[in-house]
Amino acid sequence: MKAVRIHQYGGPEVLQYEEAPRPKPQPGEVLIRVHAAGVNPIDWKVREGHLQDFFPHTFPLILGWDLSGVVEQVGAGPAAVGRFKIGDEVYSLPDPLRDGAYSEYIAVRESEVALKPKSLHHGHAAAVPLAALAAWQALFDTAKLEPGQRVLIHAAAGGVGHFAVQLAKWKGAHVIATASSRNHSVLRELGADETIDYTRQRFEDIAHNIDIVLDPIGDQTQERSWQVLKEGGILLSLVEPPSADKAKALGVRAAFVASHPNGAELAEIAEVIDSGNLKPIVNRILPLSEARRAHELSQTGHTYGKIVLRVKE
Ligand SMILES: NC(=O)c1ccc[n+]([C@@H]2O[C@H](COP(=O)([O-])OP(=O)(O)OC[C@H]3O[C@@H](n4cnc5c(N)ncnc54)[C@H](OP(=O)(O)O)[C@@H]3O)[C@@H](O)[C@H]2O)c1
Repeated sequence: MKAVRIHQYGGPEVLQYEEAPRPKPQPGEVLIRVHAAGVNPIDWKVREGHLQDFFPHTFPLILGWDLSGVVEQVGAGPAAVGRFKIGDEVYSLPDPLRDGAYSEYIAVRESEVALKPKSLHHGHAAAVPLAALAAWQALFDTAKLEPGQRVLIHAAAGGVGHFAVQLAKWKGAHVIATASSRNHSVLRELGADETIDYTRQRFEDIAHNIDIVLDPIGDQTQERSWQVLKEGGILLSLVEPPSADKAKALGVRAAFVASHPNGAELAEIAEVIDSGNLKPIVNRILPLSEARRAHELSQTGHTYGKIVLRVKE
């Protein structure tokens, strides 16, 4: 099969579009013919070797942990759960410790798979799993968001942010979103009640009394976010663990959220999408052979929505 693999850590040039062995599904797994693979910052962070402590991979490694495709084969044996059958259209955030989805086929545990949203074609469904699960697990599983709460979402036009805006709105929150001005109208359409241009305004001068801050940026953005929280509020970071001491001193809570595979939650997300309350914004679809270009774009840190690789024509 064709795949994009790396044989060493490095820049975009280490991405090799080449032949690789087709994986065999084990009991409890399905083999998926990948139609499209989503691109996320974790892909180039792994490629550069920044995440070796969390993901001790071996080479050659297939990158990409976001996919939509069709079940081609079901792993045999007593452990097979049998939730899926050949021909099912599915999507998944597969285990980032294993080979990823920049490939024509991938073997994935059934527990990490769900039927894809019926209203989306594969190119858009592949944009959903990792980023939508990150937003879902942060806002709902960790922060237990409730209707009427005030939520500040940083990098709201990015992969995670644009899902977070919609999910928070769907739950009835008051949503304040930071992004540069060119993305404000689309964020309003997605449900943002207020928008802040972080390049011109200090968000802490505008956002106050916040119940939940979702921070996919870190560093100074995290540091400046403490002051906007109301007592008992929570700072959620997707990039660096916030200080527990600081949270305690300020009378607030803080958590680092590491999104993880969850087929059951993906099934719930598919329902929200099919009910018209959530949609991915796909900025660009490139062929798998142009994974390098996709990484270069993602690494600018200023793309809106998602980048997707088309694996099956
Ligand atoms: N812990 C986890 O489980 C987890 C899961 C998913 C993602 N992440 C991490 O979260 C981060 C974001 O991921 P992503 O997929 O959302 O990335 P992304 O799509 O590449 O984010 C790009 C967006 O960030 C915005 N942005 C950049 N600097 C900003 C700032 N200072 N303030 C506000 N917005 C800013 C850009 O807006 P402009 O174009 O307007 O500048 C752009 O829309 C990455 O570091 C990723 O690795 C972690």
